[in-house]
Amino acid sequence: MSTFQLTRTLPDDAMAAALRADVMHGLTRTPKELPPKWFYDARGSELFEEITRLPEYYPTRAEREILVARSARIAAETGARTLVELGSGSSEKTRHILDALTELHSYVPVDVSESALTGAAEALLAERPELHVHALIADFTRSLTLPETPGPRLVAFLGGTIGNLLPGERQAFLRSVRAMLSPGDALLLGTDLVKEEAVLVAAYDDAAGVTAEFNRNVLAVINRELGADFPLDDFAHVALWNAEEEWIEMRLRARDAVTVKIRELDLVVSFVAGEEIRTEVSAKFRQEGVRAELAEAGLKMSEWWTDAAGRFALSLSTAV
Ligand code: AVJ
Repeated sequence: MSTFQLTRTLPDDAMAAALRADVMHGLTRTPKELPPKWFYDARGSELFEEITRLPEYYPTRAEREILVARSARIAAETGARTLVELGSGSSEKTRHILDALTELHSYVPVDVSESALTGAAEALLAERPELHVHALIADFTRSLTLPETPGPRLVAFLGGTIGNLLPGERQAFLRSVRAMLSPGDALLLGTDLVKEEAVLVAAYDDAAGVTAEFNRNVLAVINRELGADFPLDDFAHVALWNAEEEWIEMRLRARDAVTVKIRELDLVVSFVAGEEIRTEVSAKFRQEGVRAELAEAGLKMSEWWTDAAGRFALSLSTAV
């Protein structure tokens, strides 16, 4: 008999409090910045799904190509009985791994969005009558306590989302993943790779303007949740390659001077013409850098697979 269990590790108002703190902190500092996690309300998640189908946005297709080619190998090498998926949002890609893991006992999807978690579980349970699903509503950038399920464990963090963390946050995150694992357990990590600037910039500044709308959506979230009056059309979408840091930055640039009221924070924020808010970094990686960051966290890389065009990588590492 399969089972479904949902655990809330976040109090109901935790998200609201975190948004207030991030907006207060990010818009009163210089230069202004907002964390990318606030893009993803219902509309933002829909826009991201649309991005994954754009001709310019290759990472989703490249990662799927690797998963299709390597899932059987991942299953054989890990023998995982528990699969933990961090930021399981849309678990379409995970299906390839789930289908290959014939010994699987438990699936632990972790996401901040309850709707993302319950939606995906239903279809899965119908197909896998012996599977135990322990969905966790949690912020995976904080330490997690996993349910007691049989090992070996495989933690999957796909999509290249690790690139949205700054280097210090990335190291803290990898250490917290290592802390969830016992020796011999594994991490499957998706990382977008450094490549030609024009290809990278186009992926974050598509011709149809979907990414621009996705970027501005963070202002719509703040307007709705915090009673702010950002004029969305007065902010231009900017995507640029920071060659020093090897990351893409998305910014919102005030076309003219503008003053914004954020009622729920009792805050007035002024922009001079051309002033920007950094809304996302999306780091791009090289094999040796990933290997070193994993090693630093106590994880030994055993496999490095790319798509045929060499745009994106999946790595498998083992807790030492
Ligand atoms: C969700 C982190 C994979 O950084 O490429 C897509 C988000 N931002 N277009 C990325 C995103 C702009 C995306 N990830």
